Amino acid sequence: MSTASKPSSISRPSADDDPLRLIDVDHVRFYVGNAKQSAYFYAHCFGFQIQQCSDLTTGSRQEANYLLTQGNIRLVLTTGLSRDHPAQREVMLHGDGIKDLAFTVADAEAAYEQALKNGAESAYEPVTYSCEAGAITKGGVKTYGRVIHSFVSRRGEFDLANLRKGGRMSPIFKNRLQFALNDYNRQHPCGLEYVDHCVGNVELGKMDHWVKWYEEVLGFKLFKHFDDKDISTEYSALMSKVMDSGFGIIKLPINEPAEGRRKSQIQEYLDWHDDMPGIQHLAFRTDDELASVAELRRRGVDFLAIPETYYEEVWDRVAKMGWGIREDHERIRQLGILVDADDDGYLLQLFTKPLQDRPTLFFEIICRRGSESFGRGNFKALFTALEAEQAQRGNL
Ligand code: FE2
Repeated sequence: MSTASKPSSISRPSADDDPLRLIDVDHVRFYVGNAKQSAYFYAHCFGFQIQQCSDLTTGSRQEANYLLTQGNIRLVLTTGLSRDHPAQREVMLHGDGIKDLAFTVADAEAAYEQALKNGAESAYEPVTYSCEAGAITKGGVKTYGRVIHSFVSRRGEFDLANLRKGGRMSPIFKNRLQFALNDYNRQHPCGLEYVDHCVGNVELGKMDHWVKWYEEVLGFKLFKHFDDKDISTEYSALMSKVMDSGFGIIKLPINEPAEGRRKSQIQEYLDWHDDMPGIQHLAFRTDDELASVAELRRRGVDFLAIPETYYEEVWDRVAKMGWGIREDHERIRQLGILVDADDDGYLLQLFTKPLQDRPTLFFEIICRRGSESFGRGNFKALFTALEAEQAQRGNL
């Protein structure tokens, strides 16, 4: 990007005509080894509806895609059907994981062109899928490591309002017929509402590069900065900066490893991800952390085990910030939920163990009561728990 074009391309006010104004997280695309089976895992453990699919039976010859929905969360699970499909190669190198954090915009082609003008590298050129009912257009840019951001614009039957109500994802998706599991999940909700934040792990020394990329290319703003004094234990450390998309759409923390006596959890991720940066965790927002975690635990979700000693000090710590936690303290302890507070309020959060055999991607379940931060007060307890897990895997 030339210096001359920089001020105009990044001085991005809240103007409605900004092509890079993000309207929503359109969907999160995973590349997985077997989308059909993964769909059942995420539906069974996390309560998603297996809503639509495209595969050989619907005329999709190259790949199978499953759309899973819950609240305003849309996950697309993609498997390549031949060895030449890029999803197959990525799964071989990195294991199952997130490929695309896609955003809804007013005009995908304009958003793509603007991102390129701002310095982005193309992942794929804009393409339109249409039928008599409507159309979607999408184009993608590369961000850190294997990850891309697609810009998606929607028309007719496929517009965002319809999609949020369970409408078709795109002309290539067909609605699924009834699943017994979908009925069960409607009767036993997990309460996950939307993607609160999405965390990336990048290589040592690259965090600031990607912070600048999100500022210059997508017009994000720096929200918080944690350094390795905040996020360290005796053995391992990391550094993190949080990028904010504005308009409450999403926050994207970016981590890099920091020097510690032993291997950082970020380095462990990179080691098992073929040294490739990628998405470390996706945080789902709930308005009732206790009900969500209780239901997820009942379904067999494997959460990180928090040491019992955590609850000896946590209530004093949050009370000092001036907030009374209205949820039942004993129930929080029984469910192993983490609590933190800042100047604006408090939050409840809990992290799953890795979702696949490689210690890479995991989920977070978060409930905010005023707090817009990320659980800084929990980092030490959390990292101690993570290190115990790393040691068990022989990776510390
Ligand atoms: Fe998080």
